[in-house]
Parts: sequence; structure tokens; C-alpha cells
Amino acid sequence: MTHAGSLPERYGRWALVAGASSGLGAATAMAAGARGFDVVLLARRPDRLEESAARVREAHGVQTSCIRADLADPDIERIVAEGVAGLDLGVLIYNAAAEPEGRFLDIPLEEHRENIAVNCWTPTVLCHRFGREMVERGRGAIVLVSSMAALQGIKMYASYGAAKAYELILGEGLWDELRDHGVDAMSYVVGATATENYQGASGAEAYGEAPSLRQQRILSPSTPTEVAERIFERLDGGPRQYSHDLDEAIALESGSLPRIDVVQAMGAVTSGLKRFQKVG
Ligand SMILES: NC(=O)c1ccc[n+]([C@@H]2O[C@H](COP(=O)([O-])OP(=O)(O)OC[C@H]3O[C@@H](n4cnc5c(N)ncnc54)[C@H](OP(=O)(O)O)[C@@H]3O)[C@@H](O)[C@H]2O)c1
Repeated sequence: MTHAGSLPERYGRWALVAGASSGLGAATAMAAGARGFDVVLLARRPDRLEESAARVREAHGVQTSCIRADLADPDIERIVAEGVAGLDLGVLIYNAAAEPEGRFLDIPLEEHRENIAVNCWTPTVLCHRFGREMVERGRGAIVLVSSMAALQGIKMYASYGAAKAYELILGEGLWDELRDHGVDAMSYVVGATATENYQGASGAEAYGEAPSLRQQRILSPSTPTEVAERIFERLDGGPRQYSHDLDEAIALESGSLPRIDVVQAMGAVTSGLKRFQKVG
């Protein structure tokens, strides 16, 4: 169903969420359905994908379609284009991420390659493909989900942060190139969000008695629903949006600090994460 004066009417009837079987992507598919979008959900795990789609249908009475695909697949443009053929695709939300973690030199090169494929190349391919179609139609919206990790070097996630920076800057550039064509683009900088893989800090004591703003954020993550809702509240809000006011405050504060301090502050966050307790 298309709601009068609704986002589907403005942008197009279907929203594609890449990386929609769990976490923020599943919540984003739900938030899209809540606004009356029919939703295409894409991910690798077929059972989780179908469960996620069923929840959207049951909650909001919209149509769903699933594309089972690996976003690192070199044939991804054809796969996705076939999956959405004939649909009025109004919104593309690129949410999936590969996340190699550990010291850069210890991670096999193949994982770094996959990081570039999923976090850089495929968003480029899909923005190119569907951005052209949106410009032809004179309407549409593109969201690239980035991360606070994109704002500075980050130890233990060095190539992930670098790849998320690519998405961040690509989305901002697209905002300026497409806005005169009726197409909204934005980069969405996501901070700590309690998805199922989120492990957070090793404990409240991980950051001592006076945690920095960044550390406070890790200790109080957003819910996936809060972060997903904000995507749609800010679809036409400008080139860069943040998932939480505290994330924006951290980013602004960082802009005036020496890079040594900024990179080390992020490293201090990483060191307190459950999975790296022993690494330091
Ligand atoms: N959670 C946080 O604290 C946080 C913080 C900053 C930024 N972010 C960003 O938020 C986004 C979502 O994160 P999340 O925490 O929700 O992650 P998540 O729970 O791991 O979910 C990732 C989603 O992407 C899909 N996916 C991953 N690799 C894929 C591939 N190669 N092909 C197809 N689908 C793939 C996964 O599905 P399958 O496994 O079924 O394929 C899943 O649906 C990411 O862009 C991440 O960088 C999250």
C-alpha cells in the first residue's frame, strides 16, 4: 500500500535494505515497513532473511521480497538488478558490513579483500546502478551506513575503519551531486548499537571512574530500532547524519583536537572492548 503524502509516494514504493537479516538492517527493514514501504531484504543467511521479512509483513502489512546474496560476489550487480527487476525502487540503504578485527598484520589478506569488496566496491556498484535509475526518474534516496570508526584510524579495526571512511565520503559526495536531480543521499554515521553481535565494554569498570564521551557511549549503546528510526527521520537531512546526538558531539569535539589524541582516544575505546581485553 502507498500512503498519501508518504515517503513511498515521494521516493518510490520499494526500499532495498542490503544486510537485512539481523541487527540494524533488520530494524531498518522494519522501520521502512512502518512507513509504508514494501521492502526488499538482502543477506546471505536464508532462514534469518525470511524470518526478518515475515516480521515486517506481519507488523505492517506491506510486501516483502528476499534476495539471498553475498555482497562480496563479483556478480553482485546482476544478482541485485534481477532481484529488484520491475519494482519501483525508491530507497537504497546499504547497511551490511564486513568487519575484519584484530591487528592488521595478523588478519589474512583475503579478509582485507572481502572488507574492500563489501564495504567499498559493492556500495559503489549499487549506488552507480540505482543512482542512475533514480536520477532518470527524478526521485529516490540512498543511504550509506558508515561508522564512528570511519572518523579516525582505529586499532584492531584498521582496514574496517578505512573502508567505512570510503562509504562516509562517497555518501557525502553523492548528496551534492544528486540533490538537484530529486535524489537524496546521505552517509549515516553509526555509533554503539546493541545488535546481537555487539559485545561492548568488558564491564563498567573497563574505562575507569571517569570514562570519556566515547567510552560512555560504548557503555550505553542505542537500540537497533532507535538507530533505524533516525535513518527515516533524516533521509533528506543533508550529507552526514549521526545515529545519536552524542556521536555528533564526539565527532565535533574531535575536529579541534590533535590527530594523535583522536586516534589514541579511539584506541582507548577498543582496548576496553570485551573481545580485546587481553590485547591492550
Ligand atoms: N552495531 C554497532 O555498534 C555498529 C557501530 C558502528 C557502525 N555499525 C554499522 O552498522 C551496520 C550494521 O551493523 P550490525 O551491528 O547490525 O551488524 P550485524 O548484526 O552483523 O548485521 C550485518 C548484516 O549484514 C549482512 N551481511 C554481512 N556481510 C554480508 C555479505 N557479505 N553479504 C550479504 N549480507 C551481508 C548480515 O547478514 P548475513 O550474515 O545473513 O549475510 C546482517 O544482516 C554496519 O554497516 C556496521 O558497520 C554498527
